[in-house]
Amino acid sequence: MPPKRILIAGALGVIGRALVDHCENDPDIELIGLARRRPEFPTRAEFRSVDLLDRADCERQLSDLGDLSHIVYAAWQPRPSRREEVAPNLTMLRNLMETAGDGAPGLRHVTLLQGAKAYGSHLGPFRTPARETDPRHMPPNFYYDQQDYLSELQQRRDWSWTIFRPTFVYGFAVGNPMNLTTVIAVYAAISRELGLPLRFPGTDAAYRVLSQAVDATLIAKAILWAGESPQARDEVFNITNGDLFRWSSLWPQLGKLLDMAVAEPQRIPLVEQMAVHEHVWDGLVAKHGLKPYRYRDIVSWAFGDFCFNREYDHILDTTKLRRCGFDGCEDSYRMFERQLGFLREHRIIP
Ligand SMILES: NC(=O)c1ccc[n+]([C@@H]2O[C@H](COP(=O)([O-])OP(=O)(O)OC[C@H]3O[C@@H](n4cnc5c(N)ncnc54)[C@H](OP(=O)(O)O)[C@@H]3O)[C@@H](O)[C@H]2O)c1
Repeated sequence: MPPKRILIAGALGVIGRALVDHCENDPDIELIGLARRRPEFPTRAEFRSVDLLDRADCERQLSDLGDLSHIVYAAWQPRPSRREEVAPNLTMLRNLMETAGDGAPGLRHVTLLQGAKAYGSHLGPFRTPARETDPRHMPPNFYYDQQDYLSELQQRRDWSWTIFRPTFVYGFAVGNPMNLTTVIAVYAAISRELGLPLRFPGTDAAYRVLSQAVDATLIAKAILWAGESPQARDEVFNITNGDLFRWSSLWPQLGKLLDMAVAEPQRIPLVEQMAVHEHVWDGLVAKHGLKPYRYRDIVSWAFGDFCFNREYDHILDTTKLRRCGFDGCEDSYRMFERQLGFLREHRIIP
């Protein structure tokens, strides 16, 4: 197989970091990570601190990366509205492709991350199971602008692309934690410290709807598969762990895993009510000698509020991905077990 030199944009995010970790011990892969920050964990990846919104910075730092074989675009910037997200997120992709991409004559493949928002999952109930061929919702949606830009650019280039649409991603990242693993872990630790049972903090209806999850490491495996698979060329794929669950069945299992009693759901506006418990978290960090990450850097209560109050099924059909040859899957309970073990082992939660 030709050598792999992979540039990961957004390498400190929940998806990008999982890919860095997954490739860490593969001697056949050269890795370049890109984000504005530096990594706070040991890695053999070469890191570049670049602001993708700054074209001059990109030209200065990314035009000489040479023989890249793959680009994985897992960067993104939230904005207060969907409309405001379009311009910066399109500019970031454009700046990357027109510097690092155009400076790499051997570039073979580009992976772009989207998500269930491509189906309008953020707007309310959407057609389920969602299929890759479903029509777009009424824009704005920066995913559409990025996809159109990439498809158009590729007409004049030699590489192919693959787009992944993960369901809710579970993994670990610091600073932009759109990730329920740390939401649940920190919420559970504070509940325990306050002598409370582990209550599902969303609505009763949200407790009972069908859900899916995807392990960030499974996405990493799929990205590596796509980079070398003819069946993945210029294709869009949904990706999930492969199983379905309702919080009503998984939550009691999480209680056992965390050794906590579980009580009936009770809606708690997490953003508002968990803000006042920062000192409890700081106390836990000191008491258990945990890594001193800032409260706001390891948990996003807003993301928790969004996920735990969704009162409609959230199902992505993944038969296309399997039909095309990627057979990875994960059991969502086992994923939690492993990820909570990781967080404990790395002294991130008690
Ligand atoms: N997390 C989920 O549940 C989920 C689910 C479905 C789809 N997705 C999609 O997957 C993609 C990646 O999401 P994610 O959750 O992994 O993102 P994330 O955790 O928020 O990470 C975003 C990454 O982008 C980097 N970044 C942001 N602005 C940058 C800039 N101006 N220049 C350079 N780097 C920049 C960040 O690092 P710095 O801050 O250091 O720059 C970080 O490494 C997004 O399109 C998202 O919509 C995510």
